[in-house]
Amino acid sequence: MPRTSGSFTTSSTGTGFIQRHSAQAPLGFCGFGTRSEPATLVASILKPNPIDFDFVSWPSCAQIARTFEAFACLVTFLIVLLASTALQFQSQIRFPIPNLMSLQIYVAGQFYDKENAKISVYDHGLLYGDGVFEGMRSYSGKVFRMKEHLDRLYESALAICLTIPISKEQMEADVNKTLQINSLKDAYIRLVVTRGSGSLGLDPNRTSNPQVIIIADSISMYPEEYYQKGLKIITAATIRNHPAALSSRVKSLNYLNNIMAKIEGLQAGCIEALMLNIKGEVAECTGDNIFIVKNGVLQTPSKDAGILEGITRNAILDLAKSLGIPAEEVTLTRHDLFVSDECFLTGSAAEVIPVVSIDGRTISSGNVGPITTKLMAEFKKLVHS
Ligand SMILES: Cc1ncc(COP(=O)(O)O)c(C=O)c1O
Repeated sequence: MPRTSGSFTTSSTGTGFIQRHSAQAPLGFCGFGTRSEPATLVASILKPNPIDFDFVSWPSCAQIARTFEAFACLVTFLIVLLASTALQFQSQIRFPIPNLMSLQIYVAGQFYDKENAKISVYDHGLLYGDGVFEGMRSYSGKVFRMKEHLDRLYESALAICLTIPISKEQMEADVNKTLQINSLKDAYIRLVVTRGSGSLGLDPNRTSNPQVIIIADSISMYPEEYYQKGLKIITAATIRNHPAALSSRVKSLNYLNNIMAKIEGLQAGCIEALMLNIKGEVAECTGDNIFIVKNGVLQTPSKDAGILEGITRNAILDLAKSLGIPAEEVTLTRHDLFVSDECFLTGSAAEVIPVVSIDGRTISSGNVGPITTKLMAEFKKLVHS
């Protein structure tokens, strides 16, 4: 909006712009062509030779747009420059730069790309299996029975005299953050707490900084056909932990005997294997609890059998109660399993999965039974509720 036009003298004051009036106006005075310049800047240049200039009191929309455009270009350029420099020196800088293409893993309060998420080779979790863990599931962004999982994690830690460095509330918030940062809604979440790095000796007092690791990844379940047709399992020769050695209720990083049993299962062509306890009673499978149905009654080994008290197991016992299915925790032998009407396994990863054959004995008709089918459906509803 021109306030004056024609000859312009430096007596013009106030905020505004000086703009060249015509193509004939010499460029030499302001030297910026048709661009606008702050009046105060060029006033002194114009002083000796007032010439044909306009004084524009406020910048026009086009001028604002041009200024904004130039500013945006400069900022974008600086961001690109900064990012490319940071990526070049990424390995040398101490703070993590998230690459959102890669899975983000939580290690001790920070997020790292999957490839860069590391802990010390002196960590006793690695050297001795000294630590605890949890495996849980999220459905539509909500972790199923998070409180129960965290209670079990902190109880396991207490049992092995490991102080988890963050509160349960903080852990819960960090688990949710890990899901969010990875944009995961239906996921498997692995929580690990290690003793921390120390000396090469066993002494946990010579370790420091227990490490909390949270991995959230997409879930890979057993193939669907096993849910339709049922699993064939065998009994492994390797037994579950003797409770006097290490309680099976501690979900520790020490899973070697379960791994041995798993290997036995795999060698026999089975993806799960049954483990007995020291007394030869049924305990559980390598990564799942076990149930049978006999004459309409649901039965599962009690905690005293040397099992991990599964969160899914407890959810199934609750469901049975609410559905009016009689359920009991009892001592079971392999014979009880062979002559059962139905059999199934439970676990956070597997959910509820039928078993139709144990050690070459077909369970009942060899088909998935009605109570198993009902509980599978009800469990699905529960986790999505
Ligand atoms: C040995 C063992 N038993 C049972 C289970 C099932 O427990 P949950 O239902 O809490 O996943 C697991 C799960 O990891 C396990 O490792």
